[in-house]
Amino acid sequence: MRMASRPNALQRLVVDSAGLANRLAMRPLGTAGRSYGAWPLDRALAGRVTLVTGASSGIGEATAHALGQAGGTVALVARSQGKLEEVAAAVAAAGGTATVHPVDLTDLEAIDALCADALARHGHVDILINNAGRSIRRSVAGSTDRFHDYERTMQLNYFAAVRLTLGLLPAMQERRHGHIVNVSTLGVLTRVPRFSAYVASKAALDAFGDSLQAEVLGDDIRVTTIHMPLVRTPMIAPTGAYRGVPAISPGAAAGFLTRAIVERPRRLTPPVGQAMNVADVFVPGVTDWIRHRGFAASQDSRAARGESS
Ligand SMILES: NC(=O)c1ccc[n+]([C@@H]2O[C@H](COP(=O)([O-])OP(=O)(O)OC[C@H]3O[C@@H](n4cnc5c(N)ncnc54)[C@H](OP(=O)(O)O)[C@@H]3O)[C@@H](O)[C@H]2O)c1
Repeated sequence: MRMASRPNALQRLVVDSAGLANRLAMRPLGTAGRSYGAWPLDRALAGRVTLVTGASSGIGEATAHALGQAGGTVALVARSQGKLEEVAAAVAAAGGTATVHPVDLTDLEAIDALCADALARHGHVDILINNAGRSIRRSVAGSTDRFHDYERTMQLNYFAAVRLTLGLLPAMQERRHGHIVNVSTLGVLTRVPRFSAYVASKAALDAFGDSLQAEVLGDDIRVTTIHMPLVRTPMIAPTGAYRGVPAISPGAAAGFLTRAIVERPRRLTPPVGQAMNVADVFVPGVTDWIRHRGFAASQDSRAARGESS
């Protein structure tokens, strides 16, 4: 059954509300992308090596550029070698140093080899940015024959990040210094319907980071979780519903990362996410109702009921 593309009033309301929430999400940190150059990023990066996964596109690519502009040394990881080489050339042109590591992070043994290679080439990795990720937008009812969606989100968003952390942590502990930055999503706090596989995989990484932080605090190793709002990157391009919704640029998203590197905060969470978290504790019936209304207005839900508009 073909769905008409014009949204009805309720759908418009849901999209407008999502847009408003996203605007609020961006506001407090919205200056980050514009002003990261004003932070002492170059000092934070002096003598440090940063490994960035997902560096061939979107947030990872913009972060690599920002680190290059600050004179940083960056190990670039993704599958697309040609794209990584272009990013490396841009980092070098901006004044930084980059090495290219074409790796499929769903291959756990390849991650072990990546850690060995990065340590051999650079001597140490001080900052690990677990940024590579994949998102899947599908209702649970629409996934009953798609268990692999849950496996592949966990494989890249959780297991790959954990494996990399395990691979690089011993060297950080030996040097008694390190920083692990996990690029999570605001969706972990808003827990929007139709993203169960994606959001659960990121929530697992958040919990791993919380547990790890308690263990390594004494070694001057910090773990930062960034609850990133919507960013206009290739990841969200296939989702038509996001076209009218405000999203920050990859450069502004890179500002969250550079701020994390300079300030080493425990979390960077837009207030709208914190508010949703609190509301979930005190009035879960209300937050469930809001999410349900949003889902009920979605095409997934109406298609499941055999409706069209
Ligand atoms: N965009 C948003 O609205 C948004 C919001 C919140 C959080 N995030 C998170 O931000 C992170 C970056 O997303 P993005 O929006 O910048 O997406 P993107 O532009 O699609 O970039 C994804 C990156 O991950 C790499 N990647 C994918 N699969 C890989 C694999 N198997 N092995 C190695 N690298 C792989 C891709 O490179 P190759 O294809 O070359 O391998 C690419 O560099 C993700 O963790 C995402 O969940 C995004």
